[in-house]
Amino acid sequence: MAMWMEITVSMSNLQCVLALITVLLVVILTRIMRTTSIRGMPGPIGWPVVGSLFSLGDLPCLTLTNMAKQYGDVFQIQLGNTNVVILNGAEAIREALFKKAAVFAGRPNFYTMMKNNGTGSDFAYSSYSEIWKKQKRMIESSLKIFVVDRQRELEDLVVMETTKMIRIVTEKNGKAVDMRQHIHNAVAKISCLVYYSKNYDYDNDDFTNLISCDEYFHDAIRSMGNPHDFLPVLRILPSRIQNRFDELVLFQKRFVSDIMAEHKEIESGIPRDIMDNMLLIRNTGDPSDAKKVWSHEHICNILCNMFGAGVFGISHAIYLLILHMIIYPEVQNKLLYDIDDVVSRKRLPQLSDRTKLPYSYAVVYEVMRVTSVSSPAVPHCTMDNTNIFGYDIPKGTPLIPNIWSANYDEAIWDEPHQFRPERFLSDDGSLNKKTVAQMMAFGVGKRRCPGEQMAVTLTHLIFVILLHQCRFDKIQGDIPQVKFRDGLQLREDPFRVIVTQR
Ligand code: HEM
Repeated sequence: MAMWMEITVSMSNLQCVLALITVLLVVILTRIMRTTSIRGMPGPIGWPVVGSLFSLGDLPCLTLTNMAKQYGDVFQIQLGNTNVVILNGAEAIREALFKKAAVFAGRPNFYTMMKNNGTGSDFAYSSYSEIWKKQKRMIESSLKIFVVDRQRELEDLVVMETTKMIRIVTEKNGKAVDMRQHIHNAVAKISCLVYYSKNYDYDNDDFTNLISCDEYFHDAIRSMGNPHDFLPVLRILPSRIQNRFDELVLFQKRFVSDIMAEHKEIESGIPRDIMDNMLLIRNTGDPSDAKKVWSHEHICNILCNMFGAGVFGISHAIYLLILHMIIYPEVQNKLLYDIDDVVSRKRLPQLSDRTKLPYSYAVVYEVMRVTSVSSPAVPHCTMDNTNIFGYDIPKGTPLIPNIWSANYDEAIWDEPHQFRPERFLSDDGSLNKKTVAQMMAFGVGKRRCPGEQMAVTLTHLIFVILLHQCRFDKIQGDIPQVKFRDGLQLREDPFRVIVTQR
């Protein structure tokens, strides 16, 4: 008995010693990790090892907005082994990303970003540099040709696909329908034609795989980066989502690479599509840039970035617009009246109607503001030692601008939680460009979304054609609400709607 007691006592001593060593290790580890923290900058004290990684709730953009009430608009949080600076509110975000644009235009070397970036040839995940600037100019000039200069062709494609979508969803004869897949199909099909001159059927395997990337990318990459980015130990654990994500990244790159092999044969100097235009820029540009600025791999990755960001951004914007139409039927009624008045019932809306439909633009911008789906935002990183709001921030510090907080900033927006499209109109009823410029759904500064014009043009045209042809109503007894979950972008809960042909 006495011997048994002795063993128990010594076992518990051993446990005590082990516990003490563990606590010491955790403290030392936390201290080591904390060395990267910024002197004097406030922020929550996170848990040992994981920091605040698992304390940001289901929607980090909201948690960070609330944290700013306690710590101020510029604060730091520890995410696993990384100290990250959070920028909240319009003023802090503009101060950094606009006034000190070049210094804040880097991208951090987070694990998932680097995996996507491969040999450094990705555009969205590479830091600001001379190479990046040339690539951005190539993106902007290619988009200008196909979205601005050749807008009649774009308009024809939009009309063709949107009317096809309308035929499909109104076939349901008053039965409720979830529009998500239909919108995705239409936007992806238009994009495949504009980017690659590829005309896919909706049930084509490549086409369905391309669309499924959205769900997996959404689940695999969180809005602020992944736990894998901040806790390296997680990378050795098996993950079905990560494996599927890796497969789809490879699929996307192979898909674009194969189309590019076909495109190499262009004889004429007139580009058929965005890919042609990029190849033309490469072939007629400085030969020394061919390898380091727009190699085969660079162009593939740029097109993957544009296609992914564009198709999914536009599809979700249209889906959310329809959700707002059933939540605010009075706004829908006003839009229907406006569109019929300007366009008439005899023809479909066209791009040239744009300036005569300011209210519909105001609705598009207000939905983009209140939903702010790209929140918090793609992480940035300082390219040099710098200073913001009196805090010294060293070169290489990762930063997250919380776009949500800027789009709900009471210093800019009167009653920001109210859905009020009129806020985007001037007294004379025209679109108020100053207010539009304050809306941050597309980011700000050097890394501002290069596809903004394409996004707004396509979203608006598809939306007004849908409203010209259909009425959207909620299912009787339903109380539709905007509910999000976190992901690469915020992802709205699915909803069904009654679509009636007008
Ligand atoms: C409603 C639709 C869209 C929204 C809300 C949106 C929003 C954004 C935001 C917030 C960023 C990050 C800005 C930052 O890093 O600070 C971004 C980046 C980007 N977007 Fe969009 N976007 C949309 C549509 C598009 C379209 C149509 C294209 C296609 C051309 C596109 C291409 C890109 C690219 C390539 C980047 C990376 C830019 C960079 O790293 O510098 N986006 N977008």
